[in-house]
Amino acid sequence: MFIAFEGIDGSGKTTQIKLFDDYLKKKLIKTFLTIEPGGTTISESVDLIVKNYDIPAEARLLLFLADRVIHIQKIEEMMRKGKMVITDRYSYSTVAYQGYGEGLNVNMIWKMLDIFCPLTPDIVIFLDVSPESVINRYNHKDMFERKGNEFYHKVANGYREMAKANKRIYTIDASGSIKDVHKSIVRLWENEIRRA
Ligand code: TYD
Repeated sequence: MFIAFEGIDGSGKTTQIKLFDDYLKKKLIKTFLTIEPGGTTISESVDLIVKNYDIPAEARLLLFLADRVIHIQKIEEMMRKGKMVITDRYSYSTVAYQGYGEGLNVNMIWKMLDIFCPLTPDIVIFLDVSPESVINRYNHKDMFERKGNEFYHKVANGYREMAKANKRIYTIDASGSIKDVHKSIVRLWENEIRRA
């Protein structure tokens, strides 16, 4: 199984993935945790470029796609080994950030994703929070964080629109405490995902 966690910066994905992974481990499920951009030969360079340089959005799109093409090889290898793969961000980040956020054509992005990154997660868990409630968590002010509230509203609405149109995307209200959000994720897993 392949699960992607999505959400705006500060939505708590990384913390929730860790807690969910601990839960799955207790159930003796073998997992492989991964992150985008991360874990490929070019991830560090992509991360460095996209966070520090004001390059055209099209260039950022291509960098994230290139990173994902390599990432997919690793994900597929782990799935072949029988692991449950959980990724912190995937294609939906590109649609939300470069499409809805930065204004690139969303249909074009989906077409490129279909061609270059055809691997689709079984389930996407979208942690939904309002930008206002998390923007004070941004401390290192990278490229996107400097864009502020308005940008993150567009990104968050992009995720919401995708969730409306796609049955695989489950929205979790992530505005509550860490414990409550974790409980919602476990409930979703037990009631909907595990039985599917
Ligand atoms: P992340 O590692 O979650 O942020 P941080 O290192 O600050 O914890 O993600 C890096 C940033 O890249 C984040 O702001 C989202 C953005 N991003 C895109 O714009 N498009 C993409 O396709 C991906 C994967 C990430």
